[in-house]
Amino acid sequence: MSKNLISIIGGAGHVGFPLGLAFANKNLYVNLIDLNSRSLKLIKSGKPPFYELGAKKILSKCLADKKIFFSTDLASVKKSKFIIVCIGTPINKRLKPQTKQFFDFFSSLFKHIRKHQIIIIRSSVFPGIVEKISKKFGKINNNISYCPERIVQSKALVELPRLPQIVSGLTKKSVEESSKLFKKICKKILVSNIKEAELIKLFSNSNRYINFAIANQLYLICDKYNVDFKNVRNLMMLGYERNLNLPNSGFSAGPCLLKDTMQLSSFYKGNFSLGLASMRVNESMVDLVIKKIKKIRNFKKKTIGVLGITFKAETDDIRDSLPLNLIKKLKRNKLKVIYTDVYYKDKYCYDFKTLIKKSDIIILGAPHKKYKRVKLPKNKYLIDIWGII
Ligand SMILES: NC(=O)c1ccc[n+]([C@@H]2O[C@H](COP(=O)([O-])OP(=O)(O)OC[C@H]3O[C@@H](n4cnc5c(N)ncnc54)[C@H](O)[C@@H]3O)[C@@H](O)[C@H]2O)c1
Repeated sequence: MSKNLISIIGGAGHVGFPLGLAFANKNLYVNLIDLNSRSLKLIKSGKPPFYELGAKKILSKCLADKKIFFSTDLASVKKSKFIIVCIGTPINKRLKPQTKQFFDFFSSLFKHIRKHQIIIIRSSVFPGIVEKISKKFGKINNNISYCPERIVQSKALVELPRLPQIVSGLTKKSVEESSKLFKKICKKILVSNIKEAELIKLFSNSNRYINFAIANQLYLICDKYNVDFKNVRNLMMLGYERNLNLPNSGFSAGPCLLKDTMQLSSFYKGNFSLGLASMRVNESMVDLVIKKIKKIRNFKKKTIGVLGITFKAETDDIRDSLPLNLIKKLKRNKLKVIYTDVYYKDKYCYDFKTLIKKSDIIILGAPHKKYKRVKLPKNKYLIDIWGII
């Protein structure tokens, strides 16, 4: 077992890959373990499997320095002192956390775990699961810690050194060793107990999700009474600090915010009324856009073009994206819809200029910086709930 080797499971994912780069960049050896051999192959060839600010350069350096290794085999954790788990923790169609899947993964993992290794869980988890894992597998090794990831997606390499790292663990050794490890890439370590750490992660995402819902709810009120929300918001914030935390309106979704709000809702046995109301408000922005389209004369004969289909700005990630949900609903309504994106490409994607030319109605889906400067021909309808064009 090598003292300097870290195994990251889910090492080709949005959390695991930049984390691996951050450690490798500090001269530690990193074994990226992932079931997705295609993504591992891309990383091996020097290409990040998704857009991540600054990743390409660091990846080239780490590959040249031979700091990164690759495996699809869980058994390769045997060689590492630290094992960091970054696999997904999805919810199902009924918005319930799939804890069994996560738990089952640990049954496979612990077949390869030895006494002196440190197991760090980094995925956002359903509260209580770390204790449950310890109860079942603690006899093999109880040096388990929970150190949640709190970066904003696609800026991990910028944020990891800046953000304080929450560290919690079941044993003194797991807390000390995990703290020492994260100290190599983060400035500050904050120690908490496990339950606190589990809640801190879910509270952080729920807090953001609820905040976006406040802006969206106020947008809906403005829209009903024909008031410009952007203007109202700007004036609310001007010289008035207590309003500065009001975010912009928009399509608030993605793979984490709704999912973690629903994990919390499940944990609180469905009583998380603020979280549930936020989901209704945020998801209703899609229906608002459809309502706006339906008010346009002859809308059935028009081509609708969506600018940006990723779940937020400056990412190529379309997981749980509301613009995509909108496209699906428009198609179900038998409307002609086309799309383009700065970062995401597939065979149906139009290039920007053709999309503008072909569309009668243009909807801003994802507020990528490039779209802020767009000048649309006068004969096009624009629907921009972000208020940036
Ligand atoms: N995306 C973010 O910005 C972000 C931020 C903070 C926390 N999180 C949390 O981190 C976790 C991971 O999220 P993500 O966005 O990186 O997901 P992801 O889907 O991008 O990455 C997960 C990776 O794990 C791999 N994987 C799944 N099961 C595996 C297994 N049994 N063995 C090996 N590899 C396996 C997948 O192939 C995938 O590459 C989630 O709990 C998420 O809520 C995500």
